[in-house]
Amino acid sequence: MGNAKLILEGKEYEFPLVVGTENEVGIDISKLRDRTGVITLDDGYGNTGSCRSAITFIDGDKGILRYRGIPIEELEQARFTEVAFLLIYGHLPNAAELTQWREKLTRHSLLHEDMKKFFEGFPASAHPMAMLSAMVASLSTYYPDDLDVDLNIVRLLAKAKTIAGFSYKKSIGQPFMYPMNHLAYTENFLHMMFAVPAEPLKISPTLERALNLLLILHADHEQNCSTSTVRMVGSSGANLFASISAGISALWGPLHGGANQAVIEMLEKIQADGGGYQKFVDKAKDKESGFRLMGFGHRVYKNFDPRSRILKKAADAVLAELGVDDPLLEIAKGLEEVALKDPYFVERKLYPNVDFYSGILYRAMGIPTNMFTVMFALGRLPGWIAHWKEMREQGSRINRPRQIYTGATQSPWVPVDKR
Ligand code: ACO
Repeated sequence: MGNAKLILEGKEYEFPLVVGTENEVGIDISKLRDRTGVITLDDGYGNTGSCRSAITFIDGDKGILRYRGIPIEELEQARFTEVAFLLIYGHLPNAAELTQWREKLTRHSLLHEDMKKFFEGFPASAHPMAMLSAMVASLSTYYPDDLDVDLNIVRLLAKAKTIAGFSYKKSIGQPFMYPMNHLAYTENFLHMMFAVPAEPLKISPTLERALNLLLILHADHEQNCSTSTVRMVGSSGANLFASISAGISALWGPLHGGANQAVIEMLEKIQADGGGYQKFVDKAKDKESGFRLMGFGHRVYKNFDPRSRILKKAADAVLAELGVDDPLLEIAKGLEEVALKDPYFVERKLYPNVDFYSGILYRAMGIPTNMFTVMFALGRLPGWIAHWKEMREQGSRINRPRQIYTGATQSPWVPVDKR
């Protein structure tokens, strides 16, 4: 493949092309400013490749998602802990590696006892995402040594679910449940969420399988807003815990991971309003309303998000198995049907994204709405870690975009009595 040519004020410049293993093509403009004196402007980075990465491949037009080359539809059969290993270390663990990995994730799941005091300081109304972000950042106060990266990775993965469980218990005023070493990763989380000291919890295999699936489907999604945040913060040399805490904050927003909570709130509103979908579809089409169909649209997918297909199927199966009859599932399906036939959504290629059905599953599992984004964060953790590690190993430059300045030109300072 040749070079890209740029003609600027009559002068011609050539820039090399970069081709990925799936034949995606980029123009390498890293010398653009040096050679031409100009920069590119790309609002929201929709056309900007920020790095080379070997972790996750997405073809948004075809609805393809693969972790380390393996299609998401095949990874449905895997366990979340092996998918985490795959993303972080680049290959599926063999039996010995997997056993050792799981043992480590179990052994490091306790929090330092003093960390419990942090929870005492949070108000009962604190959003669990705020607690998760703060607690993950505070792990660097206990483990300030950044040299043993693998150990810190294990600590983070193992302790995040304990932090999430404690955050929930704090918000409902129940005693913290400590992790139990005989339980698998996902079972342990359910135990910390739903068990009480007064009686043991019988963990439903249906629930556990649904959780495993949800975590796998969320495990990575290349350079999305939170992952780019992790890489951005990490590019300054910030440690793993600090970088991932920043990613958790980025995920919280309603246009990103916070959308799963927003979807359920929207479906509840439609239900309270009598269940008519068209009114809400019309409102979403009216730009003046400021309302969007939450769980619809995606920067990359201009076709079905493959994760939403899997989740729609799983929602039917899991709700049936658990014997849950949730009217919101019917509203969601109806809304999807109406929207997918509407020219506004068709023309803009707006399809349901991962958040559209995940909330219905979380609800059926008994997970409260304000914990939905925490669930997303637990799933996305291996992806963030894999990207942080890859960025470090690549020895990436500090991320520092440029800007086109649009403010006042040089102006004098005026003393206060003359203003
Ligand atoms: N409802 C109504 N209109 C929409 C929606 C929606 N959900 N999403 C996009 N549009 C419209 C936009 O208004 C725009 O219309 P225009 O061309 O007439 O101006 C067009 O579709 C393109 O949308 P953009 O905002 O430019 O798309 P962008 O890639 O910047 O945003 C995003 C993607 C944030 C996901 C957007 O679709 C959205 O806000 N969706 C709802 C929130 C949501 O579900 N977020 C979860 C994303 S997935 C995730 O993070 C896991």
